[in-house]
Amino acid sequence: MNNQTSSARFLSLGGLIIGLAIAGRLLWPIQSLAANTPPAFPAVADLPIQTNMPNPLVATDGKTITTPEQWLQHREAVKQIIEHYALGHMPPPPGNVKGHEVVSRLLADGKTSYRLVHLTFGPEEKLSLDISIFRPAETNGIKAPFPVIVQPSFSTISDNPPPSVTNAIASGTNTAPVKKSPNTPETAVRQYAQALDRGYAVVTFYYQDCGKDGGDYRTTGFFPAYPDSDWADLALWAWGMSRCVDYLETQSFADKSKFIALGHSRLGKATLVAGAFDERFALCAPAGSGCAGTGAYRFNGKARNGREGLNEIVKNFPQWTIPSLVEFSNRVERLPFDQHWLIDLVAPRLFIAADGLDDTAASVNALVQSYLAAQPVYALLGVPDHLGINFRPGPHRLAMEDWSAILDFADQQLRGIDVKRHFDQLPPQELWH
Ligand code: GCU
Repeated sequence: MNNQTSSARFLSLGGLIIGLAIAGRLLWPIQSLAANTPPAFPAVADLPIQTNMPNPLVATDGKTITTPEQWLQHREAVKQIIEHYALGHMPPPPGNVKGHEVVSRLLADGKTSYRLVHLTFGPEEKLSLDISIFRPAETNGIKAPFPVIVQPSFSTISDNPPPSVTNAIASGTNTAPVKKSPNTPETAVRQYAQALDRGYAVVTFYYQDCGKDGGDYRTTGFFPAYPDSDWADLALWAWGMSRCVDYLETQSFADKSKFIALGHSRLGKATLVAGAFDERFALCAPAGSGCAGTGAYRFNGKARNGREGLNEIVKNFPQWTIPSLVEFSNRVERLPFDQHWLIDLVAPRLFIAADGLDDTAASVNALVQSYLAAQPVYALLGVPDHLGINFRPGPHRLAMEDWSAILDFADQQLRGIDVKRHFDQLPPQELWH
């Protein structure tokens, strides 16, 4: 029985009118699926209350999406909705990224090649970003091109590191100072040993070189070069990750079909944005990213028995998202999307979330709910295995087990290596805190 016949059976004329009025309120008020038709954006008070996770497979005209083609068309609206209410709009790719090698030497007894490259780009080539590139050295038997992990980092890497500091972020209400432990290439390479031994290259940069994490952040980094862009830090750091890819696309050591976005915590949140918005990332791997990352807003927050929620994020870290998101404080059910939509933007590419079961900064339940709600899009696109999840015991940190899970998933899905591991295992429900 088709939907129209069954609806007609249940609705009298009066009922039909009331039904249409209710439906009109529940539907996203744009009229067609036509490509490039921008969605209209109701004020927050006019958005419908949705206590359940908003269905990514309902088009803006209320019709159910049943084909991959329809999803691909709807995907643009999904991006625009998230940009409008949460992330702001990134400037377009600058198109003029150039790299100048500053340092080059071998590390780890000659097993690893290290290069420090100074990128320049943007209006009048005035912006810059120093990136550290670690890759298996030609002598160690692993042949290029390599899959490349792009990982924003909490630490600077330099040959003359300043003394270790705790970089208390200059935001009045920010309660989470970020430890900035400077590294030399020789110390930094140790954390990448597992990836390098397995034939991956790693490219990393200090995230606040893109723009400060608090205070008068809009006057720092890349922000002033794009005064008309309404973006905030999460989109900015993601944009920085994309500039690494611009450069890597010109490098013969990089396998252009295997770029991987990987980041932890607030940089896991930025990683999710990078993977969602830059389709050159074949795999998006946020770890411990919590609220404003992979954790569903609707299952986070103290009132929902979860961890940090939307209220806390917009209050304590106003630099991460745009002011529109503040308007959803105490009315998270009016959000027209939830974080599973970002996970779905990655599809049909690869996605894995790697989290700790005892992470006090990221709710297990909020991630599980996003994962479950994201599944139908991957199923529709015929790639249910492209959506992965992995939990390990332990707290809020990027653990070696997270690296192994992400690398195993990449080996299995990107490189066709049989790793004998499943990435659809949920913890027992009593651990869904
Ligand atoms: C705080 C913040 C989290 C964030 C984390 C981090 O704990 O509340 O949202 O993920 O810092 O970036 O380390």
